[in-house]
Amino acid sequence: MGVKDLIDSGVTMIPKIASNHDWGFYLIINHGISNETIDRTINAFESFYDVPMEAKKQYHHMDHKVAFCSTFNIFYSEAINWKDSLRVYMAPNLPEMDQMRELLEWDIHAKRVAEELMEMMCEGLGVKKEKLKEMSCLEHRKLVSHYYPYCPQPDLTLGLPPHTDRGVLNVLLQNKVNGLHVKHGKEWIEVKPVRCALIINVGDLLQHRVVANPSKNPRISLAPIYKPGKRGENDVYGVFPEIISPERPSLYKEFTIPEIQKQGITDDFSCRAIIDLFKLDKSEEEA
Ligand SMILES: [Fe+2]
Repeated sequence: MGVKDLIDSGVTMIPKIASNHDWGFYLIINHGISNETIDRTINAFESFYDVPMEAKKQYHHMDHKVAFCSTFNIFYSEAINWKDSLRVYMAPNLPEMDQMRELLEWDIHAKRVAEELMEMMCEGLGVKKEKLKEMSCLEHRKLVSHYYPYCPQPDLTLGLPPHTDRGVLNVLLQNKVNGLHVKHGKEWIEVKPVRCALIINVGDLLQHRVVANPSKNPRISLAPIYKPGKRGENDVYGVFPEIISPERPSLYKEFTIPEIQKQGITDDFSCRAIIDLFKLDKSEEEA
């Protein structure tokens, strides 16, 4: 549903987008992508993972744009993450993957949803709706897909350890197999799949994990992550000036993408939220 559709449906107040503030996470339906498209996309990814390893070998770090790999933590963790992954950079140029026409199709659909959500977020914040787009936040698109096969000893490892996703917005599609948990306070809460719903994860607020899959059916997820395309030393990001004032000063320092990248993944998926590293120190602020 677009902003226009909200107005057409009679909405007179800007809706709070679920619980962005508390959770950094929400689930959307009626997003305008047909169930057929969603089923076709998930089936295409399932078929990709199903082909023999010999055929998938060509994607083993094929270039900097496409990489198929088994796990990130094989060298420094006691138990490997029980999953395979495909990472594809969709920008600035689309990858050459003839076999995955559905991937290119999904990029268009997911980008449209992300753009509309960013517009709603901007309107919710009281800034012009194109603000995030103009800041290039739809330009750097990385699609991350995971395949969690049956794990014979799911109590001994995880599918994916706790982490936050580093981006502006993440549009997650998953099949019907359970596994995703999100952290709220100190509790891990299971996110039960809802057919054809999309899970939206805002910024790097949400800590989440995926348990190893005890089911004979594989769990499949795919998530384009949207990040700013302007990534130079002089491209500075921070709290929108429009929403700060002497009475409501910014709580965060400005930053550049290279500064964020320096924080990188230092261990098996550091679960520190980057946002916490850029909080203004109260004493520093008052000095
Ligand atoms: Fe994630």
